[in-house]
Amino acid sequence: MTPLLKIENTVSGYDEADVLAGVSLDVAEREITCLLGANGAGKTTLIRTLLGLNPIRSGKVFFKTTEITGWPTHEIVRLGITCVPEGRRVFPAMTVLENLRMGGYLNESKSDISERLDYAFTIFPKLKERVGQLAGTMSGGEQAMLTIARGLMGNPELIIFDEPSLGLSPLFVKENFRVIQEINGQGISVLLVEQNVRQTLAISHVGHVLAQGKIITSGNTETLRESDALKAAYFGG
Ligand SMILES: Nc1ncnc2c1ncn2[C@@H]1O[C@H](COP(=O)(O)OP(=O)(O)O)[C@@H](O)[C@H]1O
Ligand SMILES: [Mg+2]
Repeated sequence: MTPLLKIENTVSGYDEADVLAGVSLDVAEREITCLLGANGAGKTTLIRTLLGLNPIRSGKVFFKTTEITGWPTHEIVRLGITCVPEGRRVFPAMTVLENLRMGGYLNESKSDISERLDYAFTIFPKLKERVGQLAGTMSGGEQAMLTIARGLMGNPELIIFDEPSLGLSPLFVKENFRVIQEINGQGISVLLVEQNVRQTLAISHVGHVLAQGKIITSGNTETLRESDALKAAYFGG
């Protein structure tokens, strides 16, 4: 079957230096595909490159059968790809509701927006109680949830998470992984970029390990759990 997202031999970087040295990776429809790797491995660079935020130096990116290499970001997003970026990127001076509406700005009609809001509130009932609260006054974990909910407002087919559990308290980390699994259970494909190996492998179908800009091992999660290459990527050696 044609993968939902296909990245082929991607090279990209900053200034003169290449960060990604020919990365290939597929995201299959309806699966959670994870990308693991230590700090500085090039995970965020890969996301930025496939979204057209960093210029691609060589290689190709496909969404379904459409080649999207070099497309501007807003056109890639319009295809049904959403990214929940690193860190918490809410609009602090806007309310919860306003933040959610910003995520749904591509939606055509008012009824689409209210449908998407209902959907977001089903997954995050707490946000419904907080619609009028300024996002900047919420706790870090709540802001993280709002960022995900805002991403869902665009009705994505593919959602990309960049280290969503980073900096969250253990309780929110658990909730975060539960939510990702729930979203995937509703048919949305996921590319999950994480450093949290154990919990990521527990919810993923397949995974890839990135080290110094190269995929050093790939496979199903049972295989990866035992992988020496994975251990080496984190602990050296
Ligand atoms: N804006 C930038 N300018 C120059 N170098 C960068 C920039 N962003 C990241 N890098 C470098 O690219 C490499 C990969 O970074 P990144 O993709 O952020 O890794 P990860 O997300 O896996 O932690 C690192 O060596 C980092 O220092
Ligand atoms: Mg990163």
